Formats: sequence, C-alpha cells, structure tokens
Amino acid sequence: MKAVVYTEYGPPDVLQLKEVEKPAPGDNQILIRNQATTVNIGDIWARNFKAITPARFTMPLPLWLPSRMYFGFTKPRISILGSEFAGEVEAVGKDVKRFRKGDQVFGYRGQSMGANAEYLCMPEDGLVSIKPVNMTYEEAATVPYGALTALNLLRKANIQPGQKVLINGASGSIGSAAVQFAKYFGAEVTGVCSTPRLEFVKALGADRVIDYTKEDFTRNGETYDLIFDILGKSSFSSCKNSLKQNGVYLLASFKSKQLYQMLWTSTTPGKKVICALSSENLKDLLFIKELVEAGRIRSIIDRCYPLEQTAEAHRYVENGYKTGSVIITMENNNKKEKR
Ligand SMILES: NC(=O)c1ccc[n+]([C@@H]2O[C@H](COP(=O)([O-])OP(=O)(O)OC[C@H]3O[C@@H](n4cnc5c(N)ncnc54)[C@H](OP(=O)(O)O)[C@@H]3O)[C@@H](O)[C@H]2O)c1
Repeated sequence: MKAVVYTEYGPPDVLQLKEVEKPAPGDNQILIRNQATTVNIGDIWARNFKAITPARFTMPLPLWLPSRMYFGFTKPRISILGSEFAGEVEAVGKDVKRFRKGDQVFGYRGQSMGANAEYLCMPEDGLVSIKPVNMTYEEAATVPYGALTALNLLRKANIQPGQKVLINGASGSIGSAAVQFAKYFGAEVTGVCSTPRLEFVKALGADRVIDYTKEDFTRNGETYDLIFDILGKSSFSSCKNSLKQNGVYLLASFKSKQLYQMLWTSTTPGKKVICALSSENLKDLLFIKELVEAGRIRSIIDRCYPLEQTAEAHRYVENGYKTGSVIITMENNNKKEKR
C-alpha cells in the first residue's frame, strides 16, 4: 500500500510517499481501506518534534520528556503520521462482532497515528464507529480530534445551559468544535479569533465574535461563567475580572504555573482554574456521531490534498493559513472545497 512515511525530523519535505507493507488485522481488529485523513497541529509537531523545546511545549515540563521519548529522541519512532481517518472496512478478524466488511467507518488513533496511509487496522473496541450517514468520508475524517477533545474538556468544566461562555482560539480544531458543543449545551457563546476567521466562527454558531487583533476581551467589561482558552494565550490574572463570581477558567494548554493555580483555586471559594487533559472514549465518539446526524455538529473543510501532496498540506497548516479542516484524500482528486 501507499503511505506517507518520515524517517527523520524536519520540514515538510521529510514526508515521502512510499510503498509499505499492507497491515493485516488481528483476531479482534478490522482492516480499513482509508479514504480520508487530516493534518492537525499534532501532526506538524510530531513531524519535527526535535524542534519542540521545553519552552515551546504547551504542557507542563514533566510531560515533555515522556512525550519526547514517545515520539523519538533523535529520530521519529512513529513513521506514519495522521490521527483521524474515515474509510471502508475491508476485512475483519475472526473475533470481531461490531463491524462487517463494507461498513463505512470513521475514527481516531490519537498519538499512535498511522492514518496517512491507504490502509490501517483498528481494534474493534478502539475509537472507531460507523460513519455519520450525512457526512462524506472527507467530512467525517475532520470530526474526531476536535470534537472528542472539546466535548471532554467542556464536560470537565461542567458547562450548563444559559451560561455565558467565551472560547479563546475558536477558529482552531478544538475551538471550532467547542463553539458548537457550547451552543449544543445551551450556552451563549462568544468566539475569539483573528480577522480572517471571524465569518468562519460566526458560521459555526457563535452568538458573538471578538477579533483579538482589535479588541482585548479581558478589557471590554463583559463577564463570563466559563472562559475556555485552547492555546493558553491569556492568563488567569488577566481574565479574573472577565469571570463571574464562580466562573471557571478552563485551559487545554497549560504549564506547571497553571496547575498550581488550579490547586490553589480548588481550595478557595470563587473563581476556579481547570487544567484538563482529554481522555477520549468510544462512548463520546458514538455520542458525537449522533450529534452530527442530528445536524448539531458540522465540519467545515478548507482544503483537500491527495496523499502524495501531504507535505504541501503540512506547509499550509504550519503557516497558519487553515480556516477549517485540511484533508488528505486517498484518491487523486486534488479537489479544493470552500464551504
Ligand atoms: N488538554 C488536552 O487534552 C489537549 C488535547 C489536544 C490538544 N491540546 C492543545 O490544544 C492546542 C491545539 O489546539 P487546536 O488543535 O485547536 O489548534 P489549531 O487547530 O492549530 O488552532 C489554533 C487556533 O488558535 C488561534 N490563535 C492563534 N493565536 C491566537 C491568540 N493569540 N488568541 C486567540 N486565538 C489564537 C488560531 O487562529 P486565529 O488566526 O484565528 O487566531 C488557530 O485557529 C495545543 O496547544 C495542544 O497542546 C490539548
């Protein structure tokens, strides 16, 4: 089968289209003929993990070493990137009960990656589900990472109907899903992003958008029940006045300092800091599929690249151009969609 392989860390050119051995499913695994995968920030980082110094790492320092060891110290341990996929089940192992040959599925491989390839195997109890009926393979492949992470983290902040919620980083993979989930949970949502992505965030359903290049949301006098900062670009001290009395400051990216703030605020009344790691599970993926089919969660595709142009797709994402999702398709259709 064809796959995009890398054997050294570096710029997008380290990604090479190669013939590699097609995987064979184990007894409890399914073999998927992959149709679409994505390029996310995690792929960009993993491609050049040696450049992710402790200072650039968006998690507490004690997690840096295990991550570096996981991805490989001097060269990558994982040779194929891509964490999201959508495709058709081509074969099933003898113990598989949930899936049959021909099923259309989508799913998430997390840090084990390996989806930038024509075929992949998944355990039947892994993060894989029948694809939403109302989505193409391309659309379905964009859903799992952002939606699983946003749903998981918003639940950890105990989001409630009627709350005023601000999402900082609303135009990214997690942020765009967070806007939609916050609306689904009945919140009034403000999305913060840069000028070119204001319309995109509005289209996701945000009640209000703030252009952070023109307005500082911490200084406009508005207060929120929940401020969800995806990249951790703000600080608890600057956001305190923008939080209601028992408001929550939720971080997807944080350092040890924010962990101490979480510990401290958990022991005192009033405003809280929550630093959370998402723990994805199959139940959430099945719930997300239902919401997609009910029209509550949608995917907006920026560009599609054929597998052989994966390096080009990395360049586009790495340069911060994406507005919506960037897809790798297995057919050589090179179609470019804007919706
Ligand atoms: N806690 C967890 O379990 C967990 C799991 C996965 C990932 N993460 C973290 O989540 C982050 C990646 O999120 P993602 O995948 O959504 O990233 P992404 O798709 O790359 O999106 C990041 C967005 O942030 C926006 N942005 C950049 N500077 C900003 C600023 N100063 N203020 C507001 N928005 C800004 C960018 O758009 P604009 O140009 O419109 O600003 C971009 O759309 C990483 O730091 C990663 O460590 C955490």
